Amino acid sequence: MTFRKAERTQARLKIALTGPSGSGKTFSALLIAAGIGKRIAVVDTENKSASLYAGMDKGPLAGFEFDALEIDPPYTIAKYLEAIEAAEKGGYDVLVIDSISHAWAGEGGLLDKKGALDQRAGSNSYTNWAPITKEHELFKARLLNSDLHLICTMRSKQDYILEVNDKGKSTPKKVGLAPIQRDGMEYEFTTVLDLAMDHNAAASKDRTGLFDGQVFKPSKETGARIMKWLKAGKPVAKPAEVQAAAPAPEPLADFPDEFNSAMATEEQKARISAGIKKLHELGRTDQIIWKGIAGHVRKAHGREVIETNGLTEAEAETVVEYLASWAEHIRAEAGNGSSAGRA
Ligand SMILES: Nc1ncnc2c1ncn2[C@@H]1O[C@H](COP(=O)(O)OP(=O)(O)OP(=O)(O)O)[C@@H](O)[C@H]1O
Ligand SMILES: [Mg+2]
Repeated sequence: MTFRKAERTQARLKIALTGPSGSGKTFSALLIAAGIGKRIAVVDTENKSASLYAGMDKGPLAGFEFDALEIDPPYTIAKYLEAIEAAEKGGYDVLVIDSISHAWAGEGGLLDKKGALDQRAGSNSYTNWAPITKEHELFKARLLNSDLHLICTMRSKQDYILEVNDKGKSTPKKVGLAPIQRDGMEYEFTTVLDLAMDHNAAASKDRTGLFDGQVFKPSKETGARIMKWLKAGKPVAKPAEVQAAAPAPEPLADFPDEFNSAMATEEQKARISAGIKKLHELGRTDQIIWKGIAGHVRKAHGREVIETNGLTEAEAETVVEYLASWAEHIRAEAGNGSSAGRA
C-alpha cells in the first residue's frame, strides 16, 4: 500500500443531469460529451431516444456522431455493468448513460427486485433491503471507478411536502424535483446539473466551482470548461474518487436520532418506528420526508425539534400523523396509476 499525491488529472469526470421529461437531459448530455472528448459511447435505456440526435444536419448537435448501445427491460444492474465494461473495452473517451433511473425504478430495476423479494412467503421487507443495497453499492462503485468520463442522466419527479391547511388537514405541496434514483445518489458526482423545462441548467452540486450561482443552457462549451478544469490538474484536497465514495445515507431503520426522545412515550416511539418502516416499504424515506417532519412539528408546535432533541408527547403525535399521511399520499398516488417514483 502506498499513498500517492492526489492529482485531479488522475480522476475522471462524473457528471449527472437531472430533470423532468423534455428538459434536455439527453440533448445536453450529448452536447457536454462532445465538449469533453471525441469518441463517445451512449447507453440508451429509453427506446433509442438518444439515436434521434445522431447525424443531425443543423442545430448545436449538427454532425455529431456517437456509438449507441441499447438496454431493454428488465433494467438489471448486470446489464448496466456489462455496458460499462463494453464501453471501457471499446476505448471511448466519454460514456453517456441515459438514464440510470431505470436501474432503480424501471421495469426489472432494483425497486422491482425488492418488491419480488417481499412477495416471498415469510420474507422480511426490512431485511430485504440488504441485498438491494449491496447491489446498488456495487453499481455506484462501478460508475465511480470506471475509467471513462461519465455522464449519467436521471429523470426527476415532482416532489411534495405535506402542509397543514387551515382546516388542520395535511395537504401535499409541490416543492421541486428529486431525481429518480436511490436517495443520495447525487452525492457521487463531480457535478450535478438540474435542468428545467426551458432547458436551462443550474448546478445543485458542483465540485468544480465553475457553475456557482449560474443558470445556463448546456453546450459543448460546458463540457470543454469542465474538461479544462480537470486538466488544470492542480492537486485537490482529496482525490475526487475518494471523496465521492462517501456512503449514501442509508434508509433509516428506526427512530431517527434527532427525534429520539425522553418525553414521547415508548408506545409513541413504536408507532413512529412503524410509520417509518411503512415508508421504507413504500420506497420513500428521503430527505424531503425528514425535513418535512421538522417543518411540520415547527408549524404545529412552534418548536425546532432538530435543535432541541426530544419530542413532547403532543409533538410525537404530530410525527405519527405526518408519517401516516405520507404513507396514505404515496399509496393514493400509486393507486392513481401516477408515475411517482417510477421511471
Ligand atoms: N442544451 C440545449 N440546447 C438547445 N436545445 C436543447 C437543449 N437541451 C434540450 N434542448 C431541446 O429540448 C428537446 C428535448 O430534450 P431532450 O430530448 O434532451 O429531453 P429529455 O430530458 O432527455 O427528455 P426525456 O426524459 O423524455 O428523455 C431537444 O430536442 C432540444 O430541442
Ligand atoms: Mg431523454
